[in-house]
Amino acid sequence: MSIVININKNIFLLQMKSTCYAFGVDDKGLLRHLYWGERIESCEDFDMPHIDEVSTNDPPAEITREEFAVYGGLRYKEYCLKAAFYDGTREVVYRYCGYEIAEGENCDELIITLKDIHYELIIKLHYKVYADYDLMERSVEVENLSDKTIEIERLHSAQFHIPHEGLNFTNVHGHWGAEQQKFTQKLSYGKVIIENRRGISTHNHNPYFILDRNASENSGDVYFGALRMSGNFSGIAEQTPYGETLVQLGINSHDFMLKLTPGEIFAAPPVICGYTCDGFESMSHRLHHFALDTIMRKGLRPVLYNSWEATGFAVNCDEQMKLAQKAKEIGAELFVLDDGWFGERDGIDNGLGDWYVNSKKFPNGLNELVDKVKSLGMLFGIWVEPEMVNPKSQLYKNHPDWIYHFDTRESDTSRGQYVLNMTKTEVQTFVYEMLDDLLSKYNIDYIKWDANRPISQTSPQKDIWYKHIDAIYSIAAKLKKKHKNVLFEACASGGGRIDYGILGIFDDFWTSDNTDAYDRLFIQDSYSYVYPIKAMRSWVTDCPNFISQRNIPLKFRYHSAMMGSLGIGCNILKFTEDDTALSKEMIAFYKQIRPIVQEGDFYRLSGAGTSDYFVYEYLKGGEGLVFVFLPQSKVGHRGTTVRLRGLCKKSIYTLETDGGEITKSGDYLMNRGIDLRLEGDYASTVIKLKRNN
Ligand code: DGJ
Repeated sequence: MSIVININKNIFLLQMKSTCYAFGVDDKGLLRHLYWGERIESCEDFDMPHIDEVSTNDPPAEITREEFAVYGGLRYKEYCLKAAFYDGTREVVYRYCGYEIAEGENCDELIITLKDIHYELIIKLHYKVYADYDLMERSVEVENLSDKTIEIERLHSAQFHIPHEGLNFTNVHGHWGAEQQKFTQKLSYGKVIIENRRGISTHNHNPYFILDRNASENSGDVYFGALRMSGNFSGIAEQTPYGETLVQLGINSHDFMLKLTPGEIFAAPPVICGYTCDGFESMSHRLHHFALDTIMRKGLRPVLYNSWEATGFAVNCDEQMKLAQKAKEIGAELFVLDDGWFGERDGIDNGLGDWYVNSKKFPNGLNELVDKVKSLGMLFGIWVEPEMVNPKSQLYKNHPDWIYHFDTRESDTSRGQYVLNMTKTEVQTFVYEMLDDLLSKYNIDYIKWDANRPISQTSPQKDIWYKHIDAIYSIAAKLKKKHKNVLFEACASGGGRIDYGILGIFDDFWTSDNTDAYDRLFIQDSYSYVYPIKAMRSWVTDCPNFISQRNIPLKFRYHSAMMGSLGIGCNILKFTEDDTALSKEMIAFYKQIRPIVQEGDFYRLSGAGTSDYFVYEYLKGGEGLVFVFLPQSKVGHRGTTVRLRGLCKKSIYTLETDGGEITKSGDYLMNRGIDLRLEGDYASTVIKLKRNN
């Protein structure tokens, strides 16, 4: 059992493989944080410190490390919960009521119950302890046992206290075509806030925090947490005046208000979190292992071909069949028909919402293409954007009231489309039935679910932001239950939907519309900090790249895309014989190494910005890979030496390099390292390694 309780002292210790987390209840019934760090065996050692008012300006609640701070009393700090009661009282005063312990499949769970001293508001704090992964999952549930509605104005899922100042805070910034741009900044006094207010997007910030004390890949304290929810989140990191750092993560309270009706329970999304003293690599490994083992769908992802960049909206059956034929020839396993196949769709302005097959583009119906793809022995996938509708569509004509709108305002369009009000039951039924019908009628193996604009004009209710995404999760989960073999890809104008919420609902994730192989090295490097490699769909596309206008050799483009789940998005009908031959070779090689790439341990040996070289290692069992990229040779360029990671010291390894085989001990490879030298611009190679004993 990983939950240890000292009943006399009311102290709870959550024990994981090498870390632990402690909190307790004080004599006033307040829940107070005690410790988060390296494992301490004895629960007896922990005491609840006594707190006094330091001065009238530093009241006890302000200086206490509260486990779950609420709004009310002499508290001026960040809080997780703010509630308003029917009589105008706008503060929560809780007391600890007790705990329960539950045993899960991979975890033990501690549930702490708190209750307002006057109102029938119950707060349950959940702590799932994944001891083997050195991770916890924290969440909160509020329940209204009264006969009056309680208004919840803020509900952050968890708060963390880190007993240090001067930490580094890492997250990503970005926008369409430039997702996952990692930034690190020193925390000082004041607050850093990361958030999303758009309902759809994670193009900008991503719902996680990483706080470190001058950590490197392999050393130093790192505290981290990731929210299991897509959409409007907020994260706050604050160095307080009391010598510590406070972090919170949860639903964004911007434009949020939940009316908790009598008898209603609301569960806020969990935060998966951990601490390591071994640097960023160990953080990534813990999250990757946890995601692969417990969150994501099992199995290797197929090599896909997607026709979007080749044809845009100008889809026609004959050309798609030719693309499918060629995709098969080079080795693709899944053919995905993207936007443009339905309704009267010939650009961004029309057809969205009308999910019938366009008879001009497919005069003999969709099955002509599906059958062709199947006869080639490939899987068939199709694009949809179910949450959206164009003003120019039959769906909008029939149901103008189905979009988010205000009656007295002109409705906003973005990319020429409106957003359907997914919180309406009739809209949810429409979306579910449309997709169920599509999946039942055609032999479809893969759905690419896109969402190309943010939400606005969100109707009178302020709870739509999370209800919208909740509806998407439920519809996708219901469809997957019925159509068990179908894989679902989450795409939102590129990398607009990747987070630990959607990771458990969808199966494949579009990283960015920016497929420039050099830009992708930065995007992929930063993605790998938190998200598992299998969740990173990467395509090889044509040059000059439509975003960067850069020309990069096909081999480098393949190597860059092979770092994740490989896809091809080129106009393969224009391939030269050499392009075709290289593609066949690369895809065949990828299929060989795919289990190591998609399911192995990933190491950033010399990543974005640390040298001219980008070097990454993957290890699975006794097999491994080293991806080496040199985007540009500089003046006086020399090679580089890279020390490998994760090998068995005493084993002997054989490395297959461009210059021939090298046989060395694990010890040597990890301490002395290997010399690498590439020449020219956009040079790249993949070294295979194998353990011999
Ligand atoms: C945005 C996606 O990211 C692209 O891959 C493509 O599916 C287009 N939408 C289609 O409109």
